[in-house]
Amino acid sequence: QLGLKTKRFGWNVYDQESVPSTQQLAHQLAHEGAEEGTLVIAEEQTAGRGRLNRSWHSPKGTGIWMSIILRPSVPPQQAPQLTLLVAVAVAQAIQEVTNIVPDIKWPNDVLINGKKVVGILTELQADPDQVRAVIVGIGMNVNQTQFPSDIASTATSLAIETGRTFHRPKIVQTLLQKLEQLYEQYVQHGFLPIKLLWEGYSVTIGQQIVARTLNGAIRGVALGITDSGTLKVQTEDGGIHYVYSADIEIKKQ
Ligand code: BTN
Repeated sequence: QLGLKTKRFGWNVYDQESVPSTQQLAHQLAHEGAEEGTLVIAEEQTAGRGRLNRSWHSPKGTGIWMSIILRPSVPPQQAPQLTLLVAVAVAQAIQEVTNIVPDIKWPNDVLINGKKVVGILTELQADPDQVRAVIVGIGMNVNQTQFPSDIASTATSLAIETGRTFHRPKIVQTLLQKLEQLYEQYVQHGFLPIKLLWEGYSVTIGQQIVARTLNGAIRGVALGITDSGTLKVQTEDGGIHYVYSADIEIKKQ
């Protein structure tokens, strides 16, 4: 019913009317051994989660709330690469469907006109030296025409940005196709080609930023991303810092 053009991604699908969180259900399925490419998608989430313990607004029938299970043979340290890969897939899908070239803010916020249109949450099930599963949660604002007041100034949707409404299954199909293509490229050729694509969409590199991590804030210039997907930041004293996970604020020049 999704009209899939993929080989594996999205063939095993749990299509739900309402769940607390597709991410939670996907975690459970991955634990039980669900195959790579298993997709959980819902019309509505009653307890959608974002990064850093935030909640994710997931009203009925307007957005795409989905989680997909990947099983790459990589050590956990390389997992940030997959986060960036997913952001590129989302950006490519949006570009194909809307003709708008979105921006990616490290690690994986997808923005149009500076407002967030997609949030991505990548979580691991891993042994110390091997990833068992990566649970990739994608929340895309598609047909919303307004947002609750607390996020109205920072969130947007494809409908708001284009003045059109979209058939969501078509977007899911395009997104899975881009994701599978990039993932195959990653498995065969490694991270470098993905990194180049990511840099093409990036609005972070070269900017003056504040990176808020669990251990405090780092202020400086974002020099680039490393081969493992971390962000390289130079502080004013000339020191180089590698940021694994953070919230980034881009300073206006
Ligand atoms: C973020 O930007 O903080 C990430 C948001 C991720 C939201 C998606 S919606 C589908 C999946 N299920 C969840 O509970 N969260 C992710």
